This record gives sequence, C-alpha cells and structure tokens, in this order.
Amino acid sequence: MTINHFPLLGLFLGAPLLAAAQQPATEQRITTLLQQMTLAEKVGQLNQYSGRELTGPASARKDNQLNAIRSGQVGSMLNVRGVQDTRAIQAEALKSRLRIPLLFSLDVIHGYKTIFPIPLAEAASWDLAAIRLGAHVAAREAAAAGIHWTFAPMVDVGRDPRWGRVMEGAGEDTYLGAQIARARVLGFQGEKLGGTDAVMACAKHFAAYGAALAGRDYNAVDMSSQQLWETYLPPFRAAADAGVATFMNSFNTLNGVPATGNRYLQRDVLKGQWQYPGFVVSDWGSIGEMVPWGYAADKADAAQKALAAGSDMDMESDAYHNHLAQLVQEGKADVALLDEAVRRILRKKFELGLFDDPYKFSNEKREKQVLNDPQNRLAARQVARKAMVLLKNDHQTLPLRREWRRLAVIGPLAKSKRDLDGSWVPEADTTLITSIYDGLAQRLGPQTQLRYAKGCEVLGESRTGFAQAVAAAQSADAVVITVGETWDMSGEAKSRTDIGLPGVQEELFAALKATGKPIIVVVLGGRPLIFNTIADQADAILLAWWPGAEGGHALADVLSGDYNPGGKLPITFPRAVGQIPIAYNQQYSTGRPVTKPGDTRYKSAYIDAPNTPRYAFGYGLSYTTFTYSDLSISRPQLTAAETVQVQFTLTNTGPVAGEEVAQLYLRDPVASTVRPLKELKDFQKVALKPGERKTITFTLDKDKLSFYNQQLAWVAEPGEFQLMVGSASDDIRLRGKVELLP
Ligand code: BGC
Repeated sequence: MTINHFPLLGLFLGAPLLAAAQQPATEQRITTLLQQMTLAEKVGQLNQYSGRELTGPASARKDNQLNAIRSGQVGSMLNVRGVQDTRAIQAEALKSRLRIPLLFSLDVIHGYKTIFPIPLAEAASWDLAAIRLGAHVAAREAAAAGIHWTFAPMVDVGRDPRWGRVMEGAGEDTYLGAQIARARVLGFQGEKLGGTDAVMACAKHFAAYGAALAGRDYNAVDMSSQQLWETYLPPFRAAADAGVATFMNSFNTLNGVPATGNRYLQRDVLKGQWQYPGFVVSDWGSIGEMVPWGYAADKADAAQKALAAGSDMDMESDAYHNHLAQLVQEGKADVALLDEAVRRILRKKFELGLFDDPYKFSNEKREKQVLNDPQNRLAARQVARKAMVLLKNDHQTLPLRREWRRLAVIGPLAKSKRDLDGSWVPEADTTLITSIYDGLAQRLGPQTQLRYAKGCEVLGESRTGFAQAVAAAQSADAVVITVGETWDMSGEAKSRTDIGLPGVQEELFAALKATGKPIIVVVLGGRPLIFNTIADQADAILLAWWPGAEGGHALADVLSGDYNPGGKLPITFPRAVGQIPIAYNQQYSTGRPVTKPGDTRYKSAYIDAPNTPRYAFGYGLSYTTFTYSDLSISRPQLTAAETVQVQFTLTNTGPVAGEEVAQLYLRDPVASTVRPLKELKDFQKVALKPGERKTITFTLDKDKLSFYNQQLAWVAEPGEFQLMVGSASDDIRLRGKVELLP
C-alpha cells in the first residue's frame, strides 16, 4: 500500500487569526456594565471555581457554589462540561442581578472526546499544520460541549525529562516551541473569538515553570535574565502575537518571587511591554500558595499581592472572593486595578458573544453531531502517525516483512488501551481507543498469526510471565514488544528521579533478544526515557509516545509500511540521569572542550559516560534515506539591513516516499556573551518521492543572529557565524559561514 494522505488536513485550516482589533462599541458596553457593578460583583468576575462538585455527587460545596453563582460572585467555572450541565449552570448565573454569563473552562490539552497524541508527541511531527489541526479538532469538540475556554497550550520550554510535564509542551527548543505555540493558539481559537467551533486558548504557565529546580514539579526557579528572555519567554510572546485570549501564571518562584505575585512578569512585561489585551488566570490555588511559599503572610496578603502583580482571575484559592472587597474598602487594594481586571475578563465574554447569547455553545444537536464526527478520528490517526519517531532500524528490520507470518506481540502495554491516551484527558471516550494489538491484528489480517504474551507488568518485579513470552517469541518469525510508562507516570506532579524503563521491562527484552529473533521495540511514554540495553541491542525501535485513541491504528500504519515515519525528537534522550541538563542548546564549548572521544582528563566531561546523549534533539530515521548537497550561501557578508539565503538540495535517495525535517543551526563562535554550540534557527518538513530532489531555502536576517547581551539588549554582534544544515542536531550534513558587517 502506498502512503496515503487524509484529505481533510486542508479542510480544517482557516486563515491566520486577524488582529483582535477592539471595537469601541464593546468597550463602551463594558464601561456601562462596570458602572452598574457593586464591589462584590466586580470581585465576583475575578473568581473561578471548579465545578466537579456541582455536577458530580452532592457535596458541602455545592450549595455554597450555586448560591455564589446566583448572586454574581463567580466569573468562571472550570470542570463543568457537556451541554446539559453547562446550560444548567449558566441558567443559575443568569439569575444574578446583572445577568453576566459564566465562562466555562477545561483542560482540553490534546483532545476532548477524541484523544490526539500528547503535545510533546505532536511536537515531534514538526508539522505545524498537523499540530494546528489537532488543536482545532479538540476545540471544535469542546466548543460543541459547552466549553468556552481551554487551559492550553502549555508553552513552557521543557528541558528536564525528570519533570513530568514535559509531556504537555513542545520540548526543549525555543524556536520550535514558538512556532508550535502559534500553531496551537490558531488551532484552538480559529480566525476570531466567537465562532462556535473554537475556544479561547491560554498560554501557560507564565513563566519559566519548566525550569523547576531538579526537575521537581512546583519547585523554585532561579535563572539569569538572559536565559529568561532568550529561552523561556519567546513562546509566550509568540502566543500573545497570535492573539491568545488568556495567560495562566505558574506555581514556581522566579528568582525568589512567585510567578503569581510577580509584577515584573505580569505587569511590566506582559501587560506593559507586550501590551497584552487578554486576562491572566492564576494556576490552581496559586494565589493561596504564596502563603506556604513564604511570600505572603496570609491569604488576604496574597490576594493583595496577586492583584497588584497583575493576576486577574483567582482559580480556586478563594483569596479574591474572601478578601478583595475588604482590601479595597480599606484602601489596601487599588480599585482601578480591580476595574482593569474586570474589564479584561468582561471583554472576553463580549468577544465570545456570550452577552448576546449565553447558551451559544450549548446546543445538544451540535454536541451530538460534532462529538460523533468520524473525521475527528481520522485526524487523530493522521496526526498520531506523524508524531512517531523511528529511533533505530538496523538491517531494515522495519517495515514488517511480508514473509513474517507469525508475529509475537509482547509486552505490558501491547493490549492496553487507557495508557495510549496518556494524561490530561478529562473527557476522553476510552471506548474509542484501539490497542496496539488490535491495530496490528486489523491491519495484518488473518494471514498473519499474532501470538500474544504480556511478559510482565510495567511496574513490579515479577518475572513469572517471561517464560510464556519467550515461548511466544520462539514460535514466531519476529517479535514486537511494547514497553514504556503507564499513562499516569508523566504529567503534572509526576517528576521522576529515575527515567529508566520501569520495572523489569528491559529484562524481558533481554530474555526475548536471547531467542535470536528479530526484535522490534515500541516505546510508549510521556517523556524521554532511558533504555540503554534496548538501544544497543534491539533491531528496530519506534517511539510512539502516548499516541492517543487512534494510536493502535497509527502504529499499524507505521509498522506495516503503509506510512513512512518522519518524526524527529523535540527533546533530547539522555544516556543517564546524571547527564541532565542535557538539552542540545545547553551545550557549550567550555574552556576545556573534549576534542577526542574518551579523552576526559581535565576536560569538561564525565569519567563514567560520554557527554553525548543517547538520541539527540532533531533526531529521527525514515524508511528511506535523504542526502543533502550543493550548499550555497547567497552572500559571504551581510549588513544588519540585509538577509542571506542558505540554499541546498535535498534528495530522497532511498526506495520509498518520505518526509524529512531539514534543520538549520547556527553558532556565534565569539561573542560578548558565550553562545551555545548550536541553536535551531529554521526548519522545513519536506515530502519527497523516491529519487526526487528539491531545493530548500532558509533565510537568515539580523534577528536570527541576535541574542540578549549582558545589558539585556537584543543584539547581533558583527563577526563570523557558523551555519550548519542537517538531519538532526548531531547529524550535520553541510557547513558554511557568513559574516555580519559592522
Ligand atoms: C495545572 C494547570 C491546569 C489547572 C486546572 C493545575 O494544577 O498546573 O495546568 O490548567 O490545574 O486544571
């Protein structure tokens, strides 16, 4: 079968978001409304509660929350979903004096009902149209189920695989992360707020949350201003530029100040320098958490500090609700800041059209139709196969050979369904999930016998299943073993000190390897994992991440060769935890560079492991091969006003069609601030038929040569720049240079 392309990709992709020009009429309506609001009603708009208690089993909170909603003391609810429930709760809000509608929000992270690959996996596609499509389908489903607002995308740069939330982001690179941030915002929000197939997006967690010390969630962050501006802020800026409706602040401190109480981040940078017109929601309880942090004496103090710092909405701390009115009355909180926060929130309600029709998103017919649209699943399958990364393929073990008529399908995750969805799937329909075993069985049909054995659990020490697994392998022509993490081992509050494959999975692999049969390893998980024995000894390794509901089908597409994998790692896979931090752009020459492998004496090296990772950023194989040739650089020198074209030929030199992500890296070898060995500056995903070649052009301008200097100015310093074009950050195929003139 040839590679087939689902035709729907183009269908979903609208024109870029229009600049959200504020209509004076809306501002006028807001002003009029504000004038009618009491102090308590204003504070109410800043208050957000979780509604699990409202729609779930009765609890003590239920009556209190309903009363608060009816009296205009709540601006937004999270975790209320579905047309029926959102309609019912909205009706309560409309009993309030000013009939201000609620905003319904939810963590729609990688799908609502139809689950797509986790965000980190989607990032591995390096395919902005596919990423945008994933966000769009998620938004369309959520919007049909009464949701107005998703807490996504997470645009935190994630460079530490111990931090479980790397699964929610776009990986370790700032440039790639910024492109993906934009694609996701456009995917969620559509062309402009107010469409019933779109939701408001939320750029989170502002800021630097991914740099939590020791990879431990919710921990402190300490970093230089250069690092903040160069590495961590650009994806947020890209989201703001793409029109993201809201921001969420974060649990961490930044250089001693909690992000939630951080005036510099929220007032000076976001709302000041960037002129951001949306609103900022706190993270869950993060206003209250400033107390245990030791930054606020009590919740009243926390409320005062958070408002002053620019946190507009209080998610679940009850700090604004309980204290803000009094703080204003006592003159301790500025009513102008309160009004500004209310205005920002009301503006979004107007833009969504909720004042004109508060039930706009609550239409049962649409809910049924959209949530059962088969195109959603096709899209999930299309994106899932784009996300898979071929890490190893010795002797062209993959695609599966036709002559293999008996296939052993082994491993604790081979028949699992829930694990394929990964975490952050509050409304997933888990009955939709196709397991890897079922996907393979359906694709390979009756002519291939599948022999299943679980072998072991993901966690635990029991080896009692090994014998049966080995017997299945012995009776087969080849083995597909599925290993990895269970769905709840990466995500929020899932930091790990050991990112090795859990339990005895590598031992199971070794037992199967001893049979001498070809072994194909499928790795599932939400973060970089360490599996050195497998990396050394497997015949083929396919990284499927947590691929979502269509993962089993997508995997069968890839293993069978119906689809040629083209994913590339958006995050480095280390050899050992001790190498962390090991992101590719955290590598410097140092004063003692290792110049010969193994030469570690008085060098910046480890005596027990190389400096190099197991799999580098940007790495990923294909069933075909690509060559890079004919580098030409349009001019040897440029001035700050000029651009330079970096051109080369990319050829598919292998037997099948495929896609390659060509990458452009740069190094500034001498600068007033020491620069990393490589920084990604551009990439292109190119589809080529066998034998086909294309000329690829990257354009460099002054901006791409710039960095933040010691004075925090964004500068390009005259001198030579090294240019590297390649297939991965550690697989540079063409090198050149260019000089920036003074
Ligand atoms: C997470 C956020 C999430 C929020 C609401 C918090 O614990 O950090 O990312 O949006 O909960 O569920």
